[in-house]
Order: sequence, then structure tokens, then C-alpha cells
Amino acid sequence: MTSAPTHAKGLEGVIAGETEICNVEQTSLIYRGYEIADLAANATFEEVAYLLLVGSKPNADELAKFKADLVAERSLPAPVVEFLKTSGDLVNNQSAVPMDILRTAVSIQAHVDPDCQDNAPEANLRKAKRLLAKIPTIIGHMQNSIEGKDFVAPRDDLSHSANLLYMMTGSEPTPEAEKVMDVSLVLYAEHDYNASTFTSRVITGTLADMHGGVTGAIAALKGKLHGGANEAAMDMLSDIRNDIGPENDTAKITEWMHKAFAEKRKLMGFGHRVYKNGDHRAPILHALGRKAAEARGEEFVKLFDLGETVQKIMEDEKTIYPNVDFPCGMTYFTMGIPVPQYTPIFVASRITGWAAHIMEQHANNRLIRPRVAYTGPALRNWND
Ligand code: SDX
Repeated sequence: MTSAPTHAKGLEGVIAGETEICNVEQTSLIYRGYEIADLAANATFEEVAYLLLVGSKPNADELAKFKADLVAERSLPAPVVEFLKTSGDLVNNQSAVPMDILRTAVSIQAHVDPDCQDNAPEANLRKAKRLLAKIPTIIGHMQNSIEGKDFVAPRDDLSHSANLLYMMTGSEPTPEAEKVMDVSLVLYAEHDYNASTFTSRVITGTLADMHGGVTGAIAALKGKLHGGANEAAMDMLSDIRNDIGPENDTAKITEWMHKAFAEKRKLMGFGHRVYKNGDHRAPILHALGRKAAEARGEEFVKLFDLGETVQKIMEDEKTIYPNVDFPCGMTYFTMGIPVPQYTPIFVASRITGWAAHIMEQHANNRLIRPRVAYTGPALRNWND
């Protein structure tokens, strides 16, 4: 028996392509030349979306046109609206979760997008803008349906972030809530060859269309080891709270974690394939979320205190650091967002990164088709 050629399990450390869009390193996270902390402090999500999709920082006219294009595309076509009317029942009956609804809604959107079959750069950019504009409306309508309410129509005068929160709740968010949402979307927008982006490039590397690539990417993002971790991190903190009671007793938290370690459970929102010394995005979102919690009151401050104790134990005992999904869970909870919508909101941001990668793939395509080491039975005869 010949031994299988060596390979990197999970493609760890493998350079699987080239990109001009983003560079993820231990020391920095850069979108098209701009450091993430610089963008989080100084750019809006719309500016970052333009940067990722078009390749350069927009000037005032370019930004105004881009924002107007997005606003004009916020409403949904009839087949998507009809589907979303059923979404509340599907979710409330527990036969689907919001990520499934969003995946199907994007797939239905493909049927009515006039550019669906056209992979030319201009058509791809039009599709990217439509998806970017419509995904918050899908999330908003879905949440309205889950709550048995009428659909809240998008508002032309609100930013991408404010409009997303407005459509989910029917109330205009405070400037502080809008800012926290906006920064979270900036942080989530792009992250080179993560699993969902790689999925989108494999799909569109066959010359399949952008909607197919994005539908597959949403399916990949759903998993708890990837984007689903922002929901799972919050669920984990709720489990700890239920087990330890209302006070943040460090001994009880330590005991909870030692049990998880002994059972070899993964703590959600911790660890990263690339970042071994911490995720550059996590402290930025943590600081904003903590500030929001302090403004909201004791219950939310206690949640952050709990998260910080969990984080300290992970760092001290395992040298494993939180990724962006850990503070995201606590932050979105503080903002009153229903937990099952956390990963759909990740989609509302990452659509920019996916679309940029799909355009880059189509612009310089080669089919992605690696080999695999065969480890099955040796040759045998059917009639033996
Ligand atoms: C995202 O790739 C991206 O860029 C993704 C992302 C993006 O923006 O697109 O950053 C978004 O997906 C963030 C990750 C969200 N996932 C989670 O929070 C789930 C929990 N984390 C892990 O399961 C894990 O850390 C992964 C999936 C994120 C990374 O997995 P790897 O690289 O395959 O690492 P591993 O599972 O092989 O772990 C290596 C060691 C193991 O210990 P040993 O067996 O070597 O002793 O670290 C331990 C693991 O047990 N470990 C953890 C842990 N993460 C790693 N132990 C407990 N809890 C954890 N969370």
C-alpha cells in the first residue's frame, strides 16, 4: 500500500490564490491598503463598501452617487416579498433559521435580477450593489414577519446601518446605535480567503454567476465554526449565565470553563485559523460594545463583565484569544437585536467582500480544482 502524499488538513497555511482586496496578517488587517483601525475610526460602511467593490476611496461625488444607487435598490421584487411573507411561520415553527431564509431569498432574487447571467464587470457591479442594498431589507422584512408585523418599508433618508436597524424594529435608531452598527459592518466587511469567500470563489471560478456564489457563501457562513459563531458566542454566554446564576462569580465561571475544557468543547467566539495572538477587530468592537452597555445599564455591563472574565481565563489558561464574533455577540445583544439575526447581519456586511472577490475571480479566472490524497481501499475486482 502506498502512503498518501502529505497535505495540510483544512488547507492550513496553503496559499490558494492572489488578491488585491485584503491582507490578513498577525500584525495587521488591511482592506486595499487601509488598516482596519483607520477605517473603523474614520470611514463609514458605505465608503468601505465602495472601497472594496470599486478598488479606491470614493470622492464626494462618487460617494453620493454610490449611496443614491444603493437607496434606489433597497426595495424588494414581488417574488422575494411573497417568499418573505412565509418566513415568520418557517422560523417560528423551527423548520428554518434566519440564515436559511436569507440564503433562499438571495437565490430567489437571482431569478428576477436582469443581469443574473451576465458576468461582465459592469453587470457584476450592478448586481453587487443590488444585493448590498436589498439584503438589509430581506433581514428587516423577515424579522417583521417573525414578529407577525407588517413589513417596514426602507427609508431613503437613512444610512445603510440606520436603515437596517429601522427596518428590523420600525423605530429610528439613536445616532450611537447607528454608529455601533456601522463600525461592526466595517469590521465584518472582508477577510481574504475565509471559508465563505473561498466558497464563493470556487463557485464562480466555474463561471457560474454572482448570485450562485453569494448563495453558497451564505450557506458556508452559517456554520458555527465560521460566521455562526456570533450567535453561538452569545448562546454560550447565556448558558453560562443560566448555570452560574445572576452574579458574576469568578469561581463558578472558572468551574464552568474547566468542565468545557475537560469535555474538549470549543468555546464559541475564540480562536482563529490565522490570528494566533488575537483578532485585530475584536478589541475595536469590544470597546464600542462595552460603551453601549454602560449607556444601557447594569444587565448589559454584567454581560460584558462576564465576557471579560471568560476571555481572561481563555487567555491565561489556553492562550486562545477572542475573534470578532465574541464581542459581536455581546454588542448586538446590548443593542436588542434578536440572536438569530446576528449572522444574517454579518451577511449584510460581508456581501461586499464576497462580491469584490467574485469580481476579482471573474476578471482573472481559472477553474479552482485541487487534488486530494486517496485513502480508500486498494484496487479490487467487482466479481471477487
Ligand atoms: C470567523 O477565517 C476567517 O477569516 C473567518 C472570520 C472572517 O472574518 O471571515 O474571521 C470569521 O469565522 C471567526 C471564527 C469563528 N469561529 C469560532 O469562534 C468557533 C470556535 N473557534 C474554533 O473552533 C477554532 O478556533 C476555529 C474554527 C476558528 C479555527 O480552527 P482551526 O484553525 O482548525 O484550529 P483548531 O480547531 O485545530 O484548534 C487548534 C487548537 C486545538 O487544540 P489542540 O488539539 O491542538 O490541543 O486550539 C484549540 C483546539 O482545541 N482551540 C480551541 C478553540 N479554538 C481552538 N479550544 C477551545 N475553544 C476554542 N474556541
